Amino acid sequence: MKHRSSSAVFSNILQIRLPLLPWLLLILSSPQADPTKAMITLQPPWVDVFQEEAVTLQCEGPRQPGDSSAQWFLNGTAIRTLTPRYYIIGAQANDSGEYRCQTELSAPSEPVQLQAHRDWLLLQVSGRVFTEGEPLTMRCHAWKNKIVHKVIFYQNGKAFKYSFQDSELTIPNTNVSHDGIYHCSAMGRYRYTSAGVSVTVQGSQPPLHVWFHVLPFLVVGILFLFGTILCLKLRKEWKRKQGRTLEIPLSSGPVKNITSYLQNYRHFGGRAEGPGAEELEERAPPKLQETELP
Ligand SMILES: *[C@@H]1O[C@H](CO)[C@@H](O)[C@H](O)[C@H]1NC(C)=O
Ligand SMILES: *[C@@H]1O[C@H](CO)[C@@H](O)[C@H](O)[C@H]1NC(C)=O
Ligand SMILES: *[C@@H]1O[C@H](CO)[C@@H](O)[C@H](O)[C@H]1NC(C)=O
Repeated sequence: MKHRSSSAVFSNILQIRLPLLPWLLLILSSPQADPTKAMITLQPPWVDVFQEEAVTLQCEGPRQPGDSSAQWFLNGTAIRTLTPRYYIIGAQANDSGEYRCQTELSAPSEPVQLQAHRDWLLLQVSGRVFTEGEPLTMRCHAWKNKIVHKVIFYQNGKAFKYSFQDSELTIPNTNVSHDGIYHCSAMGRYRYTSAGVSVTVQGSQPPLHVWFHVLPFLVVGILFLFGTILCLKLRKEWKRKQGRTLEIPLSSGPVKNITSYLQNYRHFGGRAEGPGAEELEERAPPKLQETELP
């Protein structure tokens, strides 16, 4: 009786798949990047500055129309500034720390580690943690913006770039080989050497939330494939069965009657009408084979 249930299987598959539909639509309508997180950008772009230097932090994120406020956090504590830009006019040691911001409709941003230094020479980087493919910019910067030359950049103690005048360098496409501790040295009145700065470059495996977007498609795909295979199998089985019963009516009267009854019964969409009709169908072929022999 498997063949009779093929349409039932179809509707079963639909019933399984239908509850997924709202979920699917929800996922289709949500963009891939996390849209609810605020983001801090720095102007100038360096997370390391000398004391007394200026830096502006800007908070970008979703807001209500007409609202331009932002909440700022330093080392986890809310600070009084509520403007979208946080100005540091002359950085002091106590301006160092972990900054986060949040707009009215956003989640808190990723932290930015700002550090105010006191030294002769400073290697400035545009960030401390990168994902493969992101650009990394660095600058060999002297106290009071004094002019330096014969600049050498080092990664893990090994010189990798020399420039007579240019104290800035960009790696447009970072990969994990750019992970490490960087420093620089440069000539002013003397040769100065900066402290080391640690830069992390992470591999670009899709983060977990990407899988949450992909997984439902995968599940629906597998269900669909499974359903299709099942339907094809059932159809094949049904055809095979039908072929077998059609081969049988070769012989005498009563057998013929039974077979044509079965055929009629199939013709009516396979709905068993009389009592025992199902049993008849189930047991009919073996019986027929027995009576077939003269
Ligand atoms: C840092 O200290 C100065 C006083 O020395 C104070 O005026 C300023 O508000 C402090 N800044 C922060 C971010 O705590
Ligand atoms: C924030 O924490 C850093 C150390 O992580 C510290 O140097 C800095 O002074 C702290 N800033 C404030 C305002 O507490
Ligand atoms: C990383 O990038 C550099 C160029 O900046 C390239 O020479 C190197 O082969 C890359 N390494 C890997 C592991 O892709």
